[in-house]
Amino acid sequence: MIKIAPSILSADFSKLGEEIKCLDKCGADLIHIDVMDGSFVPNISFGVPIIKSIRRFTKLTFDVHLMIQEPARYAENFVEAGADIITVHFEADKHLDRTVNYIKSLGVKVAVALNPATLVDNIKYLIPYLDMVLIMSVNPGFGGQKYIEYCSEKIKEVKNLSDKYNKDLMIEVDGGISKYNIGSVVENGANVIVAGSAVFKDGNVKDNIKKLREGV
Ligand code: DX5
Ligand code: ZN
Repeated sequence: MIKIAPSILSADFSKLGEEIKCLDKCGADLIHIDVMDGSFVPNISFGVPIIKSIRRFTKLTFDVHLMIQEPARYAENFVEAGADIITVHFEADKHLDRTVNYIKSLGVKVAVALNPATLVDNIKYLIPYLDMVLIMSVNPGFGGQKYIEYCSEKIKEVKNLSDKYNKDLMIEVDGGISKYNIGSVVENGANVIVAGSAVFKDGNVKDNIKKLREGV
């Protein structure tokens, strides 16, 4: 069973509570929350207080994608705000093993994200300890970009590692996914699909999520 994780980066921030309720009603499996610090990525989105304030609108899993430098500094704050899964970037942390263990000790699930050009082998030894791997299929920072084709190979590589070392691993792909390419992304081994623009376009969230599922 694949999971659809709409990214609220493409939502209307002026009515975020309504947008969350709508996602809950419209068939989302997780809520993907993109936190950007203007340093790790060339954009600033939102942080802890926003997550705290939208927590009351749904019981769905909050999948918090931290695009911030040295994410361990803030992990506890995000857990307190209501994060269920915390994803940190390989490229943003010098002591990833320590950070992964620390996040687990906070009682939430932990994931590592890889930028498009980062080799999958970098996290080979961490695979048994992770709940999820996030393969970025665009350069992080913005919604609405084009899927980078070579990332399909990386999905297969993570799937192979998962088959060998961690059968329960969730394999999430993020960036440029639409009803047109979701089928091949899933075929390659992804089971958690992030979609921002494809979910919110034309304001028809329910229909858009349905179309994504039909594309599988
Ligand atoms: C990009 C974010 C993504 C983004 C996806 O840095 O991590 O979650 O919102 O948006 P789409 O689906 O429009 O590529
Ligand atoms: Zn994301």
